[in-house]
Amino acid sequence: MQPMMNIAVRAARNAGSILLRYHDRIDTLTVSSKGKNDFVSEVDKASEQAVIKTLRDAYPDHAILAEESGRHDGNEYQWVIDPLDGTTNYLHGFPQFSVSIALKHKGVLEHGVVYDPLRDEMFTASRGEGALLNDRRLRVSKRKGLEGALLGTGFPYSDHSNLDAYMGMFKDLLIPTAGIRRPGSAALDFAYVAAGRIDGFWELGLSEWDFAAGALLVKEAGGTVSDISGGGRFLETGNVIAGGLRLHSAMVKIIHPHLTDAIRA
Ligand code: IPD
Ligand code: CA
Ligand code: CA
Repeated sequence: MQPMMNIAVRAARNAGSILLRYHDRIDTLTVSSKGKNDFVSEVDKASEQAVIKTLRDAYPDHAILAEESGRHDGNEYQWVIDPLDGTTNYLHGFPQFSVSIALKHKGVLEHGVVYDPLRDEMFTASRGEGALLNDRRLRVSKRKGLEGALLGTGFPYSDHSNLDAYMGMFKDLLIPTAGIRRPGSAALDFAYVAAGRIDGFWELGLSEWDFAAGALLVKEAGGTVSDISGGGRFLETGNVIAGGLRLHSAMVKIIHPHLTDAIRA
């Protein structure tokens, strides 16, 4: 394993053990609100500190973009961290959450790690080297179209300005497919696309730390990730579609008529 990937995996495990430690005493946690339906707990912060410490001990010069503490300056390497993806689930005791860590070099995604501590599932990908779940190689599903497909999504929960357009997409994707899931951790949703557990995924309004690692997982598992119009600006816009090549293009077609200028921007 690449040394940088090794450190990322170690950081994810350290964070994961903090998430597990607090998991059976969520009632005692101090929680504050960052905005409507946007919560942060002391666990998010402790997990983030653990990730940053592990990364900085090994690579003191690297830059960091972390959800809770923001930007830390450094060289051309940048770690993108979501220390607890799925906070709402976590705070309700709903067992679906993860740690997400990506490394960019000069803006290009090089490594990605998504860790589910409850199942001890470590999803990893390095550019050009494929994606793994623990030691097993991952491939996206081979599904050719929407019929029979299982999709994942994230519902708008804070900014409802695109809700009507989203509901239009939802309806048109629900009818031809086998079902749609909203598990609640975007990083794991991408990991599940990479693993073929869901055939495709879309969401509006994600932040880079939610899916930088997940996007690399999907690509390295042979899948396609795009912005909501099918273009390459997914990290910038946070409006994303992911899936196997053919299913992805079927989703782009169905979603297209519901796009507004605000969603495309
Ligand atoms: C959230 C989760 C959720 C997605 C939201 C994210 P957080 O991240 O990934 O699945 O729908 O858009 O903000 O706040 O739990 O880190
Ligand atoms: Ca997140
Ligand atoms: Ca988070």
